[in-house]
Amino acid sequence: MPHMLRLLEAWTPEQVARMERNIFVAQHRLHRLELFDDVYLINLLDRHPRRDLGINTMGADPERRSDWQEGRAGNLDAEQLLEAARTGLIWLNIRRVMDHHPEYAELVRALYDDLERTCPGLQTYHHSANLLISSPGAMVYYHLDCPANMLWHVRGRKRVWAYPLESGLVSDETIEGVLCGQRSEELDFRAAWDELAVVHDLEPGEMITWPQHTPHRVVNTEGLNVSLSTEHMTPRAARRNNVYLANRHFRELLGGEWRRTQLEGWRPAAKELALRVCRRVPGLRPAPPQGYRYPITFEVDLEADNCVRPLEESHRREPALA
Ligand SMILES: [Fe+2]
Repeated sequence: MPHMLRLLEAWTPEQVARMERNIFVAQHRLHRLELFDDVYLINLLDRHPRRDLGINTMGADPERRSDWQEGRAGNLDAEQLLEAARTGLIWLNIRRVMDHHPEYAELVRALYDDLERTCPGLQTYHHSANLLISSPGAMVYYHLDCPANMLWHVRGRKRVWAYPLESGLVSDETIEGVLCGQRSEELDFRAAWDELAVVHDLEPGEMITWPQHTPHRVVNTEGLNVSLSTEHMTPRAARRNNVYLANRHFRELLGGEWRRTQLEGWRPAAKELALRVCRRVPGLRPAPPQGYRYPITFEVDLEADNCVRPLEESHRREPALA
């Protein structure tokens, strides 16, 4: 069972402490577990509710994120979906695996237990995990995520670009916008920015993570790719999100500058508290985030090019899921 073996390989508390400040790669042992073999993946896909299965395809130009499309599985069963990921240009995002699959939930909890044991003082909560199964040439466009996140790579090879926050590519307004859901999490991107990136070729048995809000993009370079993407919060990560959200909210509500993003001292604590109070008061409450939802424009089809069969305009529909 997962909790019987150390899932993190040779991590030190110093390394883990670096994780919140640097783009960071470390070793793990998930790729040795049978939970990520084809048989288990098919079984997982078979049991997974389709409403929590994201199916996407994309183009080849990292600047053209308008090529990102949402699809549906049609009548395909789990084995056929895995085959489409192996041979097509498909990105399967098996969302919320902890909610639907106890054995994977146990694994993620064991990972975080290991992490917290390795780094005394580290406190993580709101754990969640998505299992990503994707085609040899698939990619994910430049974007940033609100929680802290870690990518545990298990099968295939992928190249990851992470753009350090210090390079100044992302403005505070952009982070606020993403947190408010007012902006798609995929942001405008210029290939020239790759010069500023930390680039890593991710192998099975490696995990990559970066400081919260660090923009990143991924291109698969070899084979069927399987990775577990985990997300968590820490008190500091929650404070950071709340400070950005408070800045935006109080600027809109009261005017003035409200742009400091420091996390130390009494001011950010007071801002976080004030935001929490506002959330309880009708009239002062910030609008809940509205994520962008893509229309469904293709169906997975093992006979079609890239296993992507575009839907006729008349067969398209808006997604039913939240
Ligand atoms: Fe991400």
